[in-house]
Amino acid sequence: MFILPFLFSGAVYAQGGTNTMLRFGCSQVVVDRIDPLVNPGLAPSPHMHQVVGGNAFNTSMESTDIAKLASCTTCGYSEDLSNYWTANVYFKARNGTYKRVPQVPNRDLFGDKYTGKTKGGFVVYYVSPGKAKVTAFKPGFRMLVGDANNRVSKNLKSQTCFRCYTGPNFGGDNAAPCQDAKLDTENFPTKPCPGGIRSNILYPTCWDGVNLDSPDHKAHVAYPKNGPALFTGSSVGGDCPSTHPVKIPQIMLEIVWDTTKFNNKADWPADGSQPFVLSTGDTTGYGQHGDYVFGWKDDSLQKAMDSAKGCMGASCGGLLTQQPDAGNACSVPRRVNEDVDGWMTELPGMSGMPM
Ligand SMILES: *[C@@H]1O[C@H](CO)[C@@H](O)[C@H](O)[C@H]1NC(C)=O
Ligand SMILES: *[C@@H]1O[C@H](CO)[C@@H](O)[C@H](O)[C@H]1NC(C)=O
Repeated sequence: MFILPFLFSGAVYAQGGTNTMLRFGCSQVVVDRIDPLVNPGLAPSPHMHQVVGGNAFNTSMESTDIAKLASCTTCGYSEDLSNYWTANVYFKARNGTYKRVPQVPNRDLFGDKYTGKTKGGFVVYYVSPGKAKVTAFKPGFRMLVGDANNRVSKNLKSQTCFRCYTGPNFGGDNAAPCQDAKLDTENFPTKPCPGGIRSNILYPTCWDGVNLDSPDHKAHVAYPKNGPALFTGSSVGGDCPSTHPVKIPQIMLEIVWDTTKFNNKADWPADGSQPFVLSTGDTTGYGQHGDYVFGWKDDSLQKAMDSAKGCMGASCGGLLTQQPDAGNACSVPRRVNEDVDGWMTELPGMSGMPM
């Protein structure tokens, strides 16, 4: 969950409740080893992903208006046919076999009746703190956060982080995402987390105003000088670099992994290291990353960000919503046929990789 006292306390809240925060669950649309942003056309791509959003998700996705290609979405806001995807997490047992860690739905907040009934996906946020006007993404827009190949700290905990829940029901949820000095880490938690592990991925909020994409899927966007906009309060994008002057909504992904079934230390590596591994083969967590392909219908996102000042949750700005059954029924066939949920002797795509 996204904790209010931080963002909506003090000066920001005193400005008169101008914060916009769309917060909505999206079920899994597919788990598959494809990546239309980084490895278009490749099936299988190097590693497995878990994907939410519209059913236009495919091996390749042109930079086009995908809202016109998709006919359903797994997200609570039915006009959001975007796709969001991240690595999966696996448990590596002491006997060397792997099992995918299930994702659990987050809480319903602000009267939401959707998020708590999603299946296997995660929560998406679009935020514009304070009165700042943001420019919604254009059809064809896409971007990437993080580096799947990274294995060391880059001091970027404010962009991707893991929270070690201290108990059931999201225990320990008492600071803004990635801002808890003790419970949030840039790498995987090193000890068992009694309430599971959450991961937050915060996208850049400044755009060059021209390019819908760039060769590394990052250069056309930038973070404000003080980091993601959630943490610069009402000055969202106010300090965007001059190269990327256009303020865009702060997108954040929030994934909760139910690691609690895997907390038996007898099954953990004998050397005392932690047993969770991203589908990239990353046992550090520093390679956590998130992909985004914009796909809101027409100007629905812009209208909502303009008109939803003061609104939080899953029914804001006159946006159309759907029932959980409809979202859960939306899916995409897998393009790569392989085991994704059994006990596996190696991670998909990681054959022969040193782990
Ligand atoms: C997905 O892509 C494949 C080839 O890359 C194509 O044959 C297929 O029609 C596409 N499916 C959808 C639903 O667009
Ligand atoms: C490996 O360990 C896990 C966890 O204890 C167990 O469920 C699984 O059956 C074991 N697999 C083999 C091949 O021993």
